[in-house]
Amino acid sequence: MSVQFTRLKGFADLYGEELTIFQKIEAAARMVFPLYGYEEIRPPVLESTSLFQRGIGSETDVVQKEMFTFRDQKGRGMSLRPEATAGVLRAAIEAGLAKQGQISRLYTIGPMFRHERPQKGRMRQFHQINAECLGSDSPYIDAGLITMLIQFLDSLNLANLTLKMNSLGCAACRPAYLAKLRQFLSGKDDLCEDCQRRVNTNPLRVLDCKLCQDKLADAPAFQDNICPDCAEHFKTVLALLNEVGISYELDNHLVRGLDYYCRTTFEVVSNEIGAQTAVAGGGRYDGLVAELGGGAVPGAGFACGMERLALLTAAPEVARPDFYILGLGEAEMKAAFILAKKLRAEGLAGLMNAAGGSMKSLMRQVAKSRARYCLILGSDELASGKITLRNMDDSSQCQIDLDCVLDVLKQKCVNG
Ligand code: HAM
Repeated sequence: MSVQFTRLKGFADLYGEELTIFQKIEAAARMVFPLYGYEEIRPPVLESTSLFQRGIGSETDVVQKEMFTFRDQKGRGMSLRPEATAGVLRAAIEAGLAKQGQISRLYTIGPMFRHERPQKGRMRQFHQINAECLGSDSPYIDAGLITMLIQFLDSLNLANLTLKMNSLGCAACRPAYLAKLRQFLSGKDDLCEDCQRRVNTNPLRVLDCKLCQDKLADAPAFQDNICPDCAEHFKTVLALLNEVGISYELDNHLVRGLDYYCRTTFEVVSNEIGAQTAVAGGGRYDGLVAELGGGAVPGAGFACGMERLALLTAAPEVARPDFYILGLGEAEMKAAFILAKKLRAEGLAGLMNAAGGSMKSLMRQVAKSRARYCLILGSDELASGKITLRNMDDSSQCQIDLDCVLDVLKQKCVNG
């Protein structure tokens, strides 16, 4: 009995045009990030579950409900990474790259896993482009990260994006704010079920609950409650963005879904991709390296969701093969095979037929490949050391010496 396997729900096979869009997005990041001194790092996708519990926060939805977690043969708890930050920091600490006063700029691109309800722009395996900067709490770092993010998004010609900014205060001023917020929230008995629980466990998350927004208009605002140091830090970040012409909106309810943030937080949103509007998000996390055992090293970063960026990015033009060689008999196919190898060794891209057939069906294959030139090798041509060169765009053709094919094609395809 034959079995048909299908992909898992929330997991996608990337290929064809969609994959070319992903490749274009990746190439843009690889072009822009090094301009800001960022180097690539590739941590594994599987880490100890405790890393994420500790790093992201055990009360977050991500850790409580969304991780793909299992025990290995020896009973050790492991999880597929739901985000990159915790793993990048773990790797940086192990490699000695997380040091106060020594700035490390790292980026990583790859798959993340969250067991969420799949919908447009929300997958169980999705891909992030992630940047982290360790070693400094300067507002120049926050503004620099955001500037790099915007340059990257601009390089993809994305329109109608909004940058939202907030400051979540620091370990010194947040407790007083949280007490105020809790007091405000405990007076509300019409919050949704999740938020009623969050009032005690994680009151900040109530602020960005979609269901409860209409009950939160008078909630105390971070910007009125953060300490003078945090206010000054935030003011400098915003002033630097103004200096380089990056516009933003202040959003008092932007708290983000992960527990590690302090001070600057930001998101880039689009209203053109359905219910999941955030294409990128990030912020400062000055306590996280210490939380993961690496000492008092401040940091900040962001991640972009590639699936959501792909919804907004135009497909790149796909390169056409330079040539398609048709060998019309056994001996001619062998000669075509040798010629194709020679042309590819010189950087020309192309195909040849893998079997014989009628001229009509062979020419159909050539047309389907979109090759610019067809090289036809029949027995007469092979005997006389010639080959027919056909321009597939205007159907003009001529005979050239077999020995000259490389030079002629190079002239036409590389220089022409
Ligand atoms: P995040 O906001 O959880 O932050 O995710 C960043 C981005 O990943 C989102 O804005 C969204 O575009 C994309 N994303 C998240 N979940 C999904 C999903 N299920 N399907 C498709 N796309 C998704 C973080 O992950 C932080 N680690 C960002 C960060 C880095 N903060 C500091 N450094």
